Amino acid sequence: MYPSLEGKTVVITGAGTGLGKAMALRFGAEKANVVINYFKEEENPEETVEKIESSGARAIAVQGDVSKEDDVKALIRQAVDSFGSVDVMVNNAGVENEVPSEDLALEDWNRVISTNLTGMFLGCREAIGYMLDHNIKGSVINMSSVHQQIPWPHFVHYAASKGGAKLLTETLALEYAPKGIRVNAIGPGAIDTPINAEKFADPELKKGVIELIPIGYIGKPEEVAACAAWLASEEASYVTGLTLYVDGGMTKYPGFQAGKG
Ligand code: BGC
Repeated sequence: MYPSLEGKTVVITGAGTGLGKAMALRFGAEKANVVINYFKEEENPEETVEKIESSGARAIAVQGDVSKEDDVKALIRQAVDSFGSVDVMVNNAGVENEVPSEDLALEDWNRVISTNLTGMFLGCREAIGYMLDHNIKGSVINMSSVHQQIPWPHFVHYAASKGGAKLLTETLALEYAPKGIRVNAIGPGAIDTPINAEKFADPELKKGVIELIPIGYIGKPEEVAACAAWLASEEASYVTGLTLYVDGGMTKYPGFQAGKG
């Protein structure tokens, strides 16, 4: 547990499901005020709000599309109206779909880039702008991926968005370090979330993924959330510009495990 997170306001985009939801619950357990941005009603964010409230913390759910400037501005405004601050911004909303690149429709390219990368930029800009105006030495966490480093055929739009996330994070880290605002990324590997549900429901596909993970299993959302809590806390006060891979070793060339190199 990280006492420095108690009473802090944490905004998380794409927190209706998956990693975002796990982070919302974890920040709630840290007694932070949690602002849950979600996209679709069927994600049922109210259930997460109730869980957080029943553990004694505070939470609200705010619908919005992170690729829309007005929605991101409204998200920050609602966080401030409800809890009086924005101390931690987690830009987590992301989408992906598999398609050979020669068939990738411009519409799909635009959808993935505008959610994953433009949405991340807008979240950073609005949260950092607020922090600067109010002299808050806050923390920004961008949800990147192992695919900011590992090329991923059939997911060129996704990989491009995450490659962009890497330099976006590092550039903003450098730009705002003098103001005490830390900007870091998390690079999850294969985690058991709805985005992967179809793939992991197929035993052959799941086996193929596990072969790429030296630690030998698909990660749990809570294992990513634990890293986000640390990175947002004062315990990470000297850490900025980092991508913290939470990937069971996936980025460490598993093809070269003993006997294979
Ligand atoms: C993707 C997952 C994928 C993982 C490892 C993540 O960024 O969202 O679908 O399983 O990378 O390839």
